[in-house]
Amino acid sequence: MLFDHESAWADEQIYNKIYENSIKFPNEFWTHHIKDISWQKEPDSAFDEISEKWLSGGISNVCYNCVDRHALKNPNKPAIIWYGDEENDRREISFSKLLDIVTKIASILKSRGIKKGDVVGIYMPMVPEAIAAMLACARIGAIHLVIFAGFSAEALAYRLSSANAKVLLTINAFKRGGKEVNLSKNFDLLKSDIKIINLENLENYKVELTNEINWQNSEDDLFILYTSGSSGNPKKIVHSALPYMLYVTTTFKIIFGIKEDDVYFCTSDIGWITGHSYITYAPLFYGLTTVIFSGSPTYPTADRYWKIIEQEKVSIFYTAPTAIRSLQMFNKKFVKDHDLSLLRILGSVGEPINKSAWKWYFETVGNKKCPIMDTWWQTETGGIVIAPLRSLHQKPAVAGRPFFGIKTNIIYSELIIENKWPGICKTSKSHEVFKTGDGAIYDGNDIKISGRMDDVINISGHRLGTAEFECAINKINEVKESAVVAVPDEIKGQTAFAFVVLNDNKNSIPDIIKKIIKSTRNIIGPIAKADFVAFVPDLPKTRSGKIVRHLLRDVANNRKNLSEIHSVANPKAIEFAKIAASQAIFCPDMCRL
Ligand code: PRX
Repeated sequence: MLFDHESAWADEQIYNKIYENSIKFPNEFWTHHIKDISWQKEPDSAFDEISEKWLSGGISNVCYNCVDRHALKNPNKPAIIWYGDEENDRREISFSKLLDIVTKIASILKSRGIKKGDVVGIYMPMVPEAIAAMLACARIGAIHLVIFAGFSAEALAYRLSSANAKVLLTINAFKRGGKEVNLSKNFDLLKSDIKIINLENLENYKVELTNEINWQNSEDDLFILYTSGSSGNPKKIVHSALPYMLYVTTTFKIIFGIKEDDVYFCTSDIGWITGHSYITYAPLFYGLTTVIFSGSPTYPTADRYWKIIEQEKVSIFYTAPTAIRSLQMFNKKFVKDHDLSLLRILGSVGEPINKSAWKWYFETVGNKKCPIMDTWWQTETGGIVIAPLRSLHQKPAVAGRPFFGIKTNIIYSELIIENKWPGICKTSKSHEVFKTGDGAIYDGNDIKISGRMDDVINISGHRLGTAEFECAINKINEVKESAVVAVPDEIKGQTAFAFVVLNDNKNSIPDIIKKIIKSTRNIIGPIAKADFVAFVPDLPKTRSGKIVRHLLRDVANNRKNLSEIHSVANPKAIEFAKIAASQAIFCPDMCRL
């Protein structure tokens, strides 16, 4: 079932031929791949070009495909290998054990009255039960809503209430980097009608087990995930069950060229789309072992990833440029002390990878023997959209080619998608081309991604809206208004730079900065920190009163030629911004105040 497309993403001529056909005859392409799914009832067509519907009439279940069928065929094969904060924290969950855990959680949910279509919140670190919780929802047709365990109480409460979640699956606390992270302290703001179910001592939980599967059709939803857009509120993304499953699994199979005995390790978190598509659903669908890690890559020493790869004989490793850059700072010995010879594919996701990180990843980690799959995609696209062909002669830091069946284009420097594909989120408008918000250029036949063009900042691969920062900063009494823009950061890729206008106030600047840090931390989470703050008397605005953020972006980035100054009604504000930016306060220093 796995092997007929190994060369599709490796040989340029074969790629070109399949690609051309897949654009002309999408139904034909996708019909071939729906065969990997175990159907209760086969769909009438993979893609109906007239109604633009995927998998019409098909009936299946995502959990059945990821768990049950492998538990029947390969019950003892490890489905999940978990590593925790300390080096000897290791658990191995076979497919048959995973089925037991999933069945138990599904039974608990049912006993609490959860039905098909109900929303179930999951606020958990990277433990096997978190993945089992997602699968349990899929099994009974409930819609999971995972909230990253690093998000604050407010961020948690907002997401649960705006998605109308009925229950929250969680644990009280876990350890990361040698420190305890307490999740239960964040439950105070939750509405009283949300039931909290603690999955910590699952074995002791008494419940009547039910094995029933709620079969899903092509219109049913699998999950909700919030991400950031250009407004102040998190953006709700909904993915369908069956078409999404078809897309993530086909991209995984072809782009990584998977083999049955691959051991796969992705360092993302289920709080993000990568953790949904390529930690949980795609590897388990193909019955691969997925290695997960809830600790910190540098605790107790900076070789945790490399040690895990050696111990588990990992063949595909998928991580983010920010992790590569931070590990690149340590002595090569941390990598070289480990036998990584079974690695055959390295992946990168979440932000543009710079040449130096690419080179280090290729040479030091991959020993010049593994292609770097620089995969570009988004929460909205469900799965990988652009990746380089699998070869040892890649162009560093160039994302590559569109996946089969996807028609990309670059219009006014923005990457757009002109047709439909099964992974597109349900919340995207059906009649329009899909705008990605990312800048791109052609490099020969390849697409090179330059980064976001809108008001989204990518901090360590985490997407945050500048407006979300501004809302948090503007909540402080002393602040009149603010504008947040992105500036480059050596490790994090980008970081936030805040221009802040104060009311008349008597508080000291260090106190105000502390309040800014506290407010973004409370409202969004610790990942949301403005590293630079510049105090200005006024912000540049258009005649209609809109803040001209792109000018402030130019100023914060110290660009000499500022664009479109004529649109500013108060040009003096630009001069103030320049002076303030040159004296901006670096907040990491202020944290220690
Ligand atoms: O700007 C692009 C960047 O991450 C954004 C999507 O973020 P999110 O929805 O959180 O999903 C991240 C995981 C898929 C994109 O709009 N991005 C993601 N991968 C790459 C990238 N930028 C450049 N190169 C990539 N490989």
